[in-house]
Amino acid sequence: MTTDLTKIGMTMKAARYYANRDIRIEDIPAPVVRPGTVAIDIAWCGICGSDLHEYLDGPIFVPAPGHPHPISGEEAPVTMGHEFSGTISALGEGVTDLSVGQNVVVEPYIIGADVPTGPGDEYQLSQDMNFIGLGGYGGGLSERVVVERRWVHPIGDIPLDQAALIEPLAVGHHAFIRSGAKAGDVALIGGAGPIGLLLAAVLKAEGLTVIMSELSVARKAKALSTGVADHVLDPSEVNVADRVRELTEGRGADVGFECSSVNAVLDTLLDAVRPAGVIVNVSIWGHPATVDMQKVVLKEIDLRGTIGYANDHPATIKLVADGKVDLEPFITARIALDDLIAEGFDVLINNNDTQVKIIVHP
Ligand SMILES: NC(=O)c1ccc[n+]([C@@H]2O[C@H](COP(=O)([O-])OP(=O)(O)OC[C@H]3O[C@@H](n4cnc5c(N)ncnc54)[C@H](O)[C@@H]3O)[C@@H](O)[C@H]2O)c1
Ligand SMILES: [Zn+2]
Repeated sequence: MTTDLTKIGMTMKAARYYANRDIRIEDIPAPVVRPGTVAIDIAWCGICGSDLHEYLDGPIFVPAPGHPHPISGEEAPVTMGHEFSGTISALGEGVTDLSVGQNVVVEPYIIGADVPTGPGDEYQLSQDMNFIGLGGYGGGLSERVVVERRWVHPIGDIPLDQAALIEPLAVGHHAFIRSGAKAGDVALIGGAGPIGLLLAAVLKAEGLTVIMSELSVARKAKALSTGVADHVLDPSEVNVADRVRELTEGRGADVGFECSSVNAVLDTLLDAVRPAGVIVNVSIWGHPATVDMQKVVLKEIDLRGTIGYANDHPATIKLVADGKVDLEPFITARIALDDLIAEGFDVLINNNDTQVKIIVHP
């Protein structure tokens, strides 16, 4: 065991969620490594749409005061940030297959200790699942985190700034796995935000033809300049479903992905997929969406959900390590932790479409 007793009694800077519109940068005690855990000095942490939802409308995943999370036992205030990379600074007793100085990312789950997380285990669906950086256990918007060994994934030579995007890329990878799509298929993605764009990157790397639908000028441009989309359609200019049929010799898309949380986009996917096509809903909905069930019936559409990831990190990391996905162009700003609200949250809330991923250095 590499001891890090030096950290006992030390403090660190962290972004702490107290309540909606109330996130504070504070000095808190630095976490200390325990048996079976790994201490990581954070390099970069991305700001996610869910962080914005917590800020504007939360607490959602964050346990409200008086309602401690059943697994972490924590309640607000909690440290934020679940999309992070860093360098191992200490190993707890019993962790022998990693080394200090190694660069890693974290699969940021809070899952019961008794839940199996091996190949094929659907641990993303386990009772009371939550995320490090939302439901407790520290987070990436701080200087240091200590996590269970099973959530740590080495990244080799992948640059640490790009590695902060592996978590949302893994969301895209899991959506791809859920879709059952294969090389040669045509996919339509509704919404070219960070999730839609990173999903597109996975689909391109896996050999699909990707059509994206998006309204924002900057995001349409990003989908084309990065090469993750073969075609970008603007629903304010064309009938997306008609255009998809033109591009597929009348057939329709083999698979559709809802990545906008906009009901009209879901409606379009029902029109644009082929008979017996698959639609994967990636979006989180703040209100119940409506689905035209007659279209589901008459086309035998297979409508599926996807949440998080499960055993997706190794394959996702490999896509980046092998150069099949280039994450660099999706980083649109790098900021310091002290500027989290002014240069991070406020920019994403007010000028969302000028940004893809803002990453934060503690
Ligand atoms: N299932 C999961 O595990 C998981 C994980 C992370 C995020 N999410 C969810 O995925 C969704 C997408 O996340 P994001 O960060 O990319 O969100 P985002 O809001 O940044 O992106 C949505 C995009 O949809 C576009 N859009 C809006 N109306 C449209 C229309 N009519 N036609 C075409 N495009 C339109 C917007 O311009 C925007 O670019 C969110 O609901 C998020 O909560 C799900
Ligand atoms: Zn996220």
